[in-house]
Amino acid sequence: MAEDFNVKLDTAMYYTPSEECTKDSWAGDYNQRYQEFVADPAAYWEKIARELEWYEEWDQVREWNYPHAKWFTNGKLNITHNCLDRHVFNQRRNKVAIMWRGETADEERIFTYKQLYQAVCRFANGLKSLGVEKGDRVCIYMPVVPEQIIAMLACARIGAIHTVVFGGFGVAALNQRIRGVGAKVVIAADVTFRRGKAIPLKTIVEEAVVNAPSVERIVVLRRDETKPVELHPEMEVDFNDLMENQPRECAAETMDAEDPLFILFTSGTTGEPKGIVHTCGGYMVGTYYTTKYVFDVRDNDVYWCTADPGWITGHSYGVYGPLLNGATCLIAEATPDFPDNGVWWNLIEEYGVTIFYTAPTAIRMFMRVGAEWPQKYNLSSLRVLGSVGEPLNPEAFEWYYQHIGNRECPIVDTWWQTETGMHMITTMIGEPMRPGFAGKPIPGIIADVVDKDGNPVPPGTGGLLVIREPWPSMMRTIWGNDERYQKYWNTIPGCYTAADLAVKDENGYIMVIGRSDDLIVVAGHNIGTAEVESALVSHEAVAEAAVIGKPDAMKGNVIKAFVILIEGYQASEKLINELTYHVRMTLGPIAIPSEIEVVDALPKTRSGKIMRRVLKAREMGMDPGDISTLED
Ligand code: PRX
Repeated sequence: MAEDFNVKLDTAMYYTPSEECTKDSWAGDYNQRYQEFVADPAAYWEKIARELEWYEEWDQVREWNYPHAKWFTNGKLNITHNCLDRHVFNQRRNKVAIMWRGETADEERIFTYKQLYQAVCRFANGLKSLGVEKGDRVCIYMPVVPEQIIAMLACARIGAIHTVVFGGFGVAALNQRIRGVGAKVVIAADVTFRRGKAIPLKTIVEEAVVNAPSVERIVVLRRDETKPVELHPEMEVDFNDLMENQPRECAAETMDAEDPLFILFTSGTTGEPKGIVHTCGGYMVGTYYTTKYVFDVRDNDVYWCTADPGWITGHSYGVYGPLLNGATCLIAEATPDFPDNGVWWNLIEEYGVTIFYTAPTAIRMFMRVGAEWPQKYNLSSLRVLGSVGEPLNPEAFEWYYQHIGNRECPIVDTWWQTETGMHMITTMIGEPMRPGFAGKPIPGIIADVVDKDGNPVPPGTGGLLVIREPWPSMMRTIWGNDERYQKYWNTIPGCYTAADLAVKDENGYIMVIGRSDDLIVVAGHNIGTAEVESALVSHEAVAEAAVIGKPDAMKGNVIKAFVILIEGYQASEKLINELTYHVRMTLGPIAIPSEIEVVDALPKTRSGKIMRRVLKAREMGMDPGDISTLED
C-alpha cells in the first residue's frame, strides 16, 4: 500500500534554468500568484476567464455541490469562437495556426487562422447537412492530420460532442466506444502512415460499426487520391465532398458553460473504459490558462506537442490550449525513429520550434540511441521543454536538460490526467527544478499527499495524491455512469483521488511514483489490466488470464500476461503468437503483452479475486507482502 514506501530525500538537488529563458514569463512569481489564488479562488479564476470572449457572462464562478461542480454557471460561449474567430477578427488572421508534416519533407500543409476557420466552418456545415445537431455524439477515428483537428473543431462549432478514438485502437475498442456514446456519425480516414507503410483504418471502422445501431453515417477522408478506397454510398461519404461547396461561414452554436464539449475514454480498473466528460466553459478556461502560464506561450512561438489528439494531451495541449492562445502549432504524423532517430530534432530545427512537449518514454528512447542524434541539429530555437504521461526519472531529466535544452531551457514536468483536463502539478517557469519531482500544484490547484483518511503525510513518506478543491476543467461525470464518477471524490473524504502514489519533499515538491490501482502506464498510455485480461479470455484457448505491469527501462512499464489454457490446448510458440495477434486485433497494438506465460493456476483471494500483486512480486523476485487472503 501507499504507506509502505518511503523515499530518501537527502540527495536534494535543484536546477535553475537560465534567466534568459525564464525572465518576464507569464508565470511571474509563483508564490505571489499562488497567494493571489488562495486569497480569493473565485476571483482568481474569474480574472482568467475574462481574458476570453463570452457571449454572456456567468452568474456564478463556481457552484460546488459535492461531489458535483459547475463553473461559470449560465455563461454562454463557444470554444471555437475563442480558438478561431477571436484571432481571425483580430490581429492573427494571417498568422499560421497549424503546420502539418507527414513522414516525408514533401508532405507539408499549412493553415493560417483564417484558413483553419474557413475549413472548420465548411466541415461544420457539412456535418449539419448530415443531420448532426447540438448534443449529438460524433466519433473521430483518424491519424494526426489537419482534418482530425478540423473535425474536432467542427463538432465543437455546432455543439456536437466529439469522442476521439486513438488510431492505434482495434475493432473491439472502437466498437465499445462508438456504442458507449451512441455516436451518430463516425469520421475516419482510410489509412494512417507508419514507418512508410499505409495501415488501413477504414476496414477497422467497417467492422466496428457492426452492432452499433446509432451510427447513421461514416465520413471517410481518402488520403490516397490516386487509389481512392471504395465508399459504400448507403452509409459512407467522402470527407472532402462533404466540405465542398459549403459556405465558409458557420455561426457558432451558443453553448452553455456546462454543456458537454467532448467525451474521451480512458482505461478503468474494470474491463469497461470510462467516458470522461468535459464541458465547454471550464475546460476552455483551464486549458487556455495552463497553456499560457505553464508553457509561457507568446505570439512568436512555434509550439509542438507530440501527442496524438486521440489522448487527452493532444486534446488539451495539441488542439484547444494552443489555439485558444493563438499559437502557431506544429503537428506531425511522425514516428520518432523513422526514417531515422533524428527526425524529431530535424523538425525542431526546420520549423524553429520554441516550445516542445513530449513524453518520458520518447526521451528514454532517444537516450538509448544516443546524444549524437540531437547533436546533428541546431536546437537553439528551443526555450521551454515539457514532459507528461509518466514520471520523468532523474536520468531522463538530466539527458533532456543537457542534450535537448542545452542546460538553459526550463523543463516543465506536468502531472495531470484525462480526468483533470489540464495541468495540475508542475514546476512553473522560473522556479528551481528538482529532477524526478513534477513540482508543486499550479496556482489554482490545491494538491496534497495524504494517507487513506485524508491526513497529509510528512515529507519523505509515501501517500496518495489528492486534489482538495474543484477546478474549472475537472471532468463533470462519466458518460452514463455517474456512480463511477462519484468514486473519485468518495474514496478519501473531501478529496479527489487521483489513484497515484506520491511523495513530497521538504519544500512541497511532489514526486509521482505510479498508479495505486490496476492500471498500467505503458509508454505514457493508460491500459487497464482488466481490458487486456478480457481480450485474452475472449480467445477460445484461454480459460483465465491475469495481467501485470513490469518495469521497463524505456516504456516505464510493459505488459506481462499469465494465462491458464482450456483443456485440450497446449502451450506453444504458435499459440502465444496467436494470442498476441488476438489482443492486437481486439484492443490494438498499444495493448499487446510483451510476454505471455502459460501457467496452471493463478493466485487468488478466497473470494476469487486474482492477486496481481502476488504475481508481480514473484515476477520481480520481491516479497509479496500480506498474503493472508490468498486461497491456497
Ligand atoms: O499515473 C499518472 C500518469 O498518467 C496518469 C494519467 O493518465 P492519462 O489519463 O492517460 O493522462 C496522461 C496525460 C495527462 C496519471 O494518473 N502521469 C501523467 N503525467 C505524469 C504522470 N506520472 C508522473 N509524472 C507525470 N508528469
